[in-house]
Amino acid sequence: MENKIWLILLYLAICVTYNLGGEICSDNPKAYQNYLGTKTPYRFVGNNTFGRIEYPGCTTKKIWMIVRHGTRNPSHSFIESMNNRLPQIRDLILKHNTISSEVLHNSDLMAFQKWDAKLHKKDSKKLTHEGQNELINIAERMQSRFPSLLSNIYSNTSYKFKFTDSQRTKKSAYYFAVGLFGKNTAKSVWYPEPSKKDPILRFYKLCKKWRNDVKLNPESLSHRTAFGASPLMTKIVTEISDRLKLPKNSLTFDDAYTMYSTCAFETAWKANVKSPWCSAFTINDMKAFEYYEDLKYYWIDGYGYNLNHKQACVAFDDVVSFFNSKSSYPKATVYFTHSGTLLKVMSHFGLYKEDQPLTENNFNDKVDNRTFRVSRIGSFATNLALVLMDCEGTPKILALHQERIVRLPSCPTSDLCGFNETLRYYRGDTATCEFEEICDNGTDETDEENTDDSI
Ligand SMILES: *[C@@H]1O[C@H](CO)[C@@H](O)[C@H](O)[C@H]1NC(C)=O
Ligand SMILES: *[C@@H]1O[C@H](CO)[C@@H](O)[C@H](O)[C@H]1NC(C)=O
Ligand SMILES: *[C@@H]1O[C@H](CO)[C@@H](O)[C@H](O)[C@H]1NC(C)=O
Ligand SMILES: *[C@@H]1O[C@H](CO)[C@@H](O)[C@H](O)[C@H]1NC(C)=O
Ligand SMILES: *[C@@H]1O[C@H](CO)[C@@H](O)[C@H](O)[C@H]1NC(C)=O
Repeated sequence: MENKIWLILLYLAICVTYNLGGEICSDNPKAYQNYLGTKTPYRFVGNNTFGRIEYPGCTTKKIWMIVRHGTRNPSHSFIESMNNRLPQIRDLILKHNTISSEVLHNSDLMAFQKWDAKLHKKDSKKLTHEGQNELINIAERMQSRFPSLLSNIYSNTSYKFKFTDSQRTKKSAYYFAVGLFGKNTAKSVWYPEPSKKDPILRFYKLCKKWRNDVKLNPESLSHRTAFGASPLMTKIVTEISDRLKLPKNSLTFDDAYTMYSTCAFETAWKANVKSPWCSAFTINDMKAFEYYEDLKYYWIDGYGYNLNHKQACVAFDDVVSFFNSKSSYPKATVYFTHSGTLLKVMSHFGLYKEDQPLTENNFNDKVDNRTFRVSRIGSFATNLALVLMDCEGTPKILALHQERIVRLPSCPTSDLCGFNETLRYYRGDTATCEFEEICDNGTDETDEENTDDSI
């Protein structure tokens, strides 16, 4: 008994030390850093160890990798709510908390006194300093794992890089290249012209049926909306308000959500500074807001609708034709894209599938018991890598997600999965991906331009 307590204390001490260093503390269920949704910085989720990955009898042949851009600034509309509403809430908090409390320590009050909304709308969604480091670090570690695939000498024939048409993915590609080749060479890396609706990097932008049936269908967000309006959430908002000693009804659900997201962003941006907005939430509040986020991604990008992941067969086809190609160059294909792509592709591979769908009604069952958690699987700089190996003449695939080896459902009992088994499992009888058919596009061209809603 006593031993156990010491172990827990030791663990917490290590955890605190780790957090101060800005490193992961990923197994501590009491750390609010683990519930930040898609705004979770990569330092809390990635595998940050270096070293070669080898399997006896196998040599590495090629690597295919997709990477979400790193930590970024908020969207235009979120910056607006930060600028408009948070200074008012800050003043209200300071007015009603003249001395420190259990909830708001002196350091929090001082942080609130200094806090201001500093972002300009012109900087919306830009890659931040933390995002730069995330990409540099991932590249360095992946290179240490597979040095013959990710050579530190750049050549246009051994690498194929591509990013989407956005500042944050372009810069992410650049910093990834910095991690591989150093600053000077990174400047001369060649990239193809990005396209607004890349058929592989952002296939869903070309999928008319998905746009109409899922993205623009109010039904898709109904679970999230219902959870946001649930008695549980209402109670949480009241409790936050009471905890902050605010007058009754001065805090709305939207306010609390803005505070939660600001807590997430500020935690992501600065590894060594605690955002005072995080102090307003208990761990259980954080878990509820995290679930509220998951209800969006589950239904828009995840298993909620088959169409979400079915269309990702174009990405799978890209892997197959790259691995099947007779040429042994390029050795590495690396795409820099968005969470919408990563989540759909991971769902296509059958990773993190839940037995029952996530809804507003099963929060209690799912709160501590689900694998589909964007805080883990869809953080900033989320990445999925597939490595082609030659094992005594048999082609095999190794998968890594967040730089951790994951077993694909095509081979649940081994790290390495035969390329043929993988193909059979994911393709079934269809020879190639029928994107046009799946997406039902071809007839009446309605081109709804381009609310840049991708994150
Ligand atoms: C790099 O290779 C691509 C074809 O893969 C070619 O179009 C491009 O011009 C090359 N760039 C340079 C700088 O050699
Ligand atoms: C349908 O898909 C193709 C890609 O295969 C694309 O070129 C075309 O623009 C799409 N049509 C619509 C309406 O999105
Ligand atoms: C959820 O609970 C079930 C049964 O209690 C357990 O078998 C399963 O592994 C849990 N899943 C997760 C994701 O923790
Ligand atoms: C993390 O990376 C190290 C170094 O490459 C590797 O040995 C280890 O297996 C990885 N961890 C997981 C869980 O895959
Ligand atoms: C995999 O499939 C190809 C083509 O169908 C076949 O030629 C090859 O022998 C198969 N390899 C293995 C190891 O089963």
